Amino acid sequence: MSTDDTVAFDVVDGIAWVRFNRPDKRNCMSPTLNRRMMAVLDELEFREDVGVLVLSGEGSAWSAGMDLKEYFRETEERGLGATRQAQREAYGWWRRLRWYQKPTIAMVNGWCFGGGYGPLYACDLAIAAEEAKFGLSEINWGILPGGGATKVVVDLIPLRDAMYHAMTGEAIDGKKAAEWRLVNEAVPLAGLKHRVTEIAKVLLEKNPVALKATKDAVRRVKEMTYDNAEDFLVRAQEAANSYDNDGRKEGIRQFIDEKSYKPGLGAYKR
Ligand code: ACO
Repeated sequence: MSTDDTVAFDVVDGIAWVRFNRPDKRNCMSPTLNRRMMAVLDELEFREDVGVLVLSGEGSAWSAGMDLKEYFRETEERGLGATRQAQREAYGWWRRLRWYQKPTIAMVNGWCFGGGYGPLYACDLAIAAEEAKFGLSEINWGILPGGGATKVVVDLIPLRDAMYHAMTGEAIDGKKAAEWRLVNEAVPLAGLKHRVTEIAKVLLEKNPVALKATKDAVRRVKEMTYDNAEDFLVRAQEAANSYDNDGRKEGIRQFIDEKSYKPGLGAYKR
């Protein structure tokens, strides 16, 4: 267990449980938290005992978005340079998370607003509590959904829903978020950790080189033409082979020669 103020984490059975840790401030993201989160991501990324990273929040919130006092007001008071630095630090760890070496799951236990959509989108999968509340509340205090939040909803949910969500600032619950595909699924809060652990265990059984290649491929090809994607995917697999050619050969061997598993029904034994 390691706790350093704004971010807490512990690693149990291959899963790094990372938590926004400002429950009294509903886990809103201050520059301090953003710097700390980047350091935690650095620390965990290549640890051998970490196979999956789960991002959740302490207390009633996942994250209430950017810290209106410390991220906006106080940095703006210090001028453009400070504002740009605060943006770099926030966007920096979200980008880092989008292309993280290990598979990532957002476990959305409560409030998720505005800037929170950055790390939400950055995680490969997202499982929410039905009781969680999601909102692009920017419009409620007088700005547009920046920091990528508008892009997140347009990428993930249908345009009419994205427009309504952004313009009204109305919060939706976890069930609705799953219906809109902002998250993969929603389950009652009481069963949230259990469900996330189940999914993490499935990921832990997979070949980690193939998982990293797969998650990056899904994000990359989304913006490519079919032909570009076809070409990219050939090259991506060949690059993955240079790290782990034995893994896939073993996967073929266990199926074709040993007949010990069926790839259509589960993972080979590593
Ligand atoms: N920035 C700064 N402080 C915040 C934030 C925030 N985003 N969210 C909560 N806090 C602080 C409150 O000011 C309060 O501080 P205090 O105890 O010193 O008075 C404390 O956290 C607890 O907040 P409450 O409002 O009392 O908590 P409650 O559980 O009743 O409500 C809720 C939770 C709905 C999340 C509410 O705090 C809220 O609306 N927060 C702002 C959400 C938001 O719009 N975020 C910005 C999105 S836009 C963007 O990120 C770019």
